[in-house]
Amino acid sequence: MAVSLTVNGDERSLNIEGDTPLLWVLRDELGLKGTKFGCGAGLCGACTVHLNGQPVRSCSTPVEMAAGGDVVTIEGLGEGRRLHALQEAWIEHGVPQCGYCQSGQIMSAAHLLASNPAPSREEIVAAMTGNLCRCGTYSRIISAVESVVA
Ligand code: FES
Repeated sequence: MAVSLTVNGDERSLNIEGDTPLLWVLRDELGLKGTKFGCGAGLCGACTVHLNGQPVRSCSTPVEMAAGGDVVTIEGLGEGRRLHALQEAWIEHGVPQCGYCQSGQIMSAAHLLASNPAPSREEIVAAMTGNLCRCGTYSRIISAVESVVA
């Protein structure tokens, strides 16, 4: 089927099976490798992107659900060549260890701040619980988000 969607501000048109996970469209069709495959079952959050301003698990979002929609990935989170404040904070706080889950972590944090610019520590912890990190970087993640809020 023909699917058109906007990705990081660019209109994209694809001829693709409608049930193809958005994750593979982003990575394989559009070359946006920042969004990662973790569990493939909607459980870990590594594949988190924004669809129409909401965080979604792209591994379990059929591309037909994104038709006509506005997708933002980690590559499109900053403005032009400027990093998003959260990306700067991630660097400042040395958050990543292996780094694999971090784009999903940042996309979830970015949605939190877009919907609640001044979250409490408890709200940050609650918002980030769906994103797993096998290296256990959770305390640095919370500190980095708090530094953007402060
Ligand atoms: Fe999508 Fe784990 S890869 S939630």
